[in-house]
Amino acid sequence: MPDARPGRRVAIVAGLRTPFVKSGTTFKDLTSIELGRQVVAELLMRTELPAREVGQVVFGTVVPSVQAPNIAREVALLTPLPRSVECYSVTRACATSLQAMTSAADSVALGEHDVIVAGGAECLSDVPITYSRPVAQAVVLASRGKTLVEKLRAFSDVSAKDLLPVPPALAEYSTGLTMGESAEKMAKENGIGREAQDAFAHRSHARAAAAWADGTFAKEVTRVVIGPKFDASISEDNTVRKDSTLEGYGNLKPVFDKRFGSITAGNSSPLTDGAGALILMAEEKAKALGYKPLGYLRAYAYAAVDPGWQLLQGPAFSVPKALKRAGMTMADIDLVEMHEAFAAQVLSNLQAWGSQRFYDERAPGTKAPGEVPDGKLNPNGGSISLGHPFGATGARMVHQALRELAARNLNTALISICAAGGLGGAAILERE
Ligand SMILES: CC(C)(COP(=O)(O)OP(=O)(O)OC[C@H]1O[C@@H](n2cnc3c(N)ncnc32)[C@H](O)[C@@H]1OP(=O)(O)O)[C@@H](O)C(=O)NCCC(=O)NCCS
Repeated sequence: MPDARPGRRVAIVAGLRTPFVKSGTTFKDLTSIELGRQVVAELLMRTELPAREVGQVVFGTVVPSVQAPNIAREVALLTPLPRSVECYSVTRACATSLQAMTSAADSVALGEHDVIVAGGAECLSDVPITYSRPVAQAVVLASRGKTLVEKLRAFSDVSAKDLLPVPPALAEYSTGLTMGESAEKMAKENGIGREAQDAFAHRSHARAAAAWADGTFAKEVTRVVIGPKFDASISEDNTVRKDSTLEGYGNLKPVFDKRFGSITAGNSSPLTDGAGALILMAEEKAKALGYKPLGYLRAYAYAAVDPGWQLLQGPAFSVPKALKRAGMTMADIDLVEMHEAFAAQVLSNLQAWGSQRFYDERAPGTKAPGEVPDGKLNPNGGSISLGHPFGATGARMVHQALRELAARNLNTALISICAAGGLGGAAILERE
């Protein structure tokens, strides 16, 4: 098949991720920057890539540190990479490290860089806690006060309620709805029932548990050093339920609509900490350095929907766009790696892809991508079981898909990610 992208062909040469763990657990003393450092340093060491070959680092996080918002640069400065490596950070909600990869790929294709490290990290155990606007204004005013009285007077209008710390919201800025509430809306509007959601969540855990048991993940996940004194380490996800039973899901209470809802802790992705990274190279550069790429980027696309409609339905529009750019149909895809924010979202996206009526109504002229056979979908689980560190999920999915293609001796994979803001991302990878 002819090249789908202009410019140089972009190879994905290597990838790695940390274990993914529930926020507030094993990585509670770490930061996104530290998780990023550990994964990038280990990836450079495993690939034996001379640090001088790296021209750029593109990294992302969704909830950045207020003290060090350019995570890409901070991560690079903590690794053996030369200080002359330039870096920038990206954010595209849950598709952040897919964005890091596609931005890096464009720079490689254009000839700006030969070798780029791309990825992302999230440590929701370490989110910035802010204060209300009246407190923030009073602090600024007080800092300008010349006397103690002036400084204290700045706080005279601050009420006791204003002093409560404000945690970061998982709610959409534009609609005020949380992700879970938005997923509930999708479940109801698309007729996705509780049983189907629970069955999908169980499938996710069962497959991830099997992938850990048979050694599939051993090469994809690095050991991370933990603890305030860095005197312990872990090498496995703690999100995967090895003892998942379908019956166990039925007993869980709905979280986001307690009376009529169907979304539970069991059929949602958990709040997660973790990091992932990829090494991208121009195809000729990979050859010259003697690397056998895991695969190549064939095409990618992003799309958006009104967040007030069905927040997590972006993939319904990004996937046909990416397939068109690749000159492919769903039938050409050997493996579909989908981000699982909620089972209700996965089942809604799949329903849309399989419905020509959906496209005739919402995007006339677009051909429905088609149904995805179960055997091609998330064979090793997904974000419901593996967890979803917002900034790291894209890198995890790209690496996981390419390794699974190799294990099955197949050629093409579709990556699909829904993201806050009504965004959808899609990428098509190929091995040959
Ligand atoms: C859904 C959510 C609120 C649940 O949070 P939580 O209450 O901390 O979840 P927990 O893991 O503690 O699970 C709650 C209970 O359900 C149980 N449970 C969870 N999954 C289960 C399963 N598969 N089978 C059986 N029991 C299960 C847990 O054991 C726990 O039981 P306990 O209270 O007796 O300990 C949280 O995970 C969430 O907000 N997820 C969505 C994140 C999000 O919006 N991401 C963005 C997507 S793009």
